Amino acid sequence: MVLDLLRKRRSIREFKAQPLTAGEIDILTETLLRSPSSRGRNPWEFIFVTDPELRGRLGQAKAHGAEFLRKAPLAVAVVADTDKCDVWIEDCSIAAILVQMAAESLGLGSCWAQMRLRNHKDGRSSQEHLKEILQLPEGYQVLAVIGIGHPAESKTGHRREDLLWNKIHRERFVLVEEPAP
Ligand SMILES: Cc1cc2nc3c(=O)[nH]c(=O)nc-3n(C[C@H](O)[C@H](O)[C@H](O)COP(=O)(O)O)c2cc1C
Repeated sequence: MVLDLLRKRRSIREFKAQPLTAGEIDILTETLLRSPSSRGRNPWEFIFVTDPELRGRLGQAKAHGAEFLRKAPLAVAVVADTDKCDVWIEDCSIAAILVQMAAESLGLGSCWAQMRLRNHKDGRSSQEHLKEILQLPEGYQVLAVIGIGHPAESKTGHRREDLLWNKIHRERFVLVEEPAP
């Protein structure tokens, strides 16, 4: 059940060096290719990166928050031909979260590294760097890179009582102030 996976799911940024098996990679691959997309245009492409040097470079493609990619035995870059579909961001986001859930179902950990609208520490856009690292053709953009591997940290799932129940509305929007932190 998806909810059982979601109850356990957390972002994992520490990984064992142990590589993924061919069977695990096959399941992740099939999951990505089964992602629904608007009008079935499938604007996405997925680049599986295991080379440590390349993973290190991906981890530096934005100023903060992607360093964990160096330690993840697998980094999946979710990229799109942005001319293929006006809602490529939605299409790619769906594929990205589905592969995270498939990883969870295999007992693997994962984390999303946002790349769209982000910059390298040298001030150039993350996209410019990624274009070089991944040798992307013109017209392609990277939504995110998902780091995946065997977890080397353990986190408990969010407690049901901590969920933001006031975000759920019935029939119409009713603003409920969030409690002060
Ligand atoms: C669109 C999106 C972008 C994210 N970007 C990053 C990122 O660049 N680096 C990172 O370490 N985590 C990133 N995350 C993970 C979030 O920080 C994480 O999901 C959030 O803090 C909640 O923690 P949890 O996933 O453990 O419940 C991103 C998540 C989403 C959905």
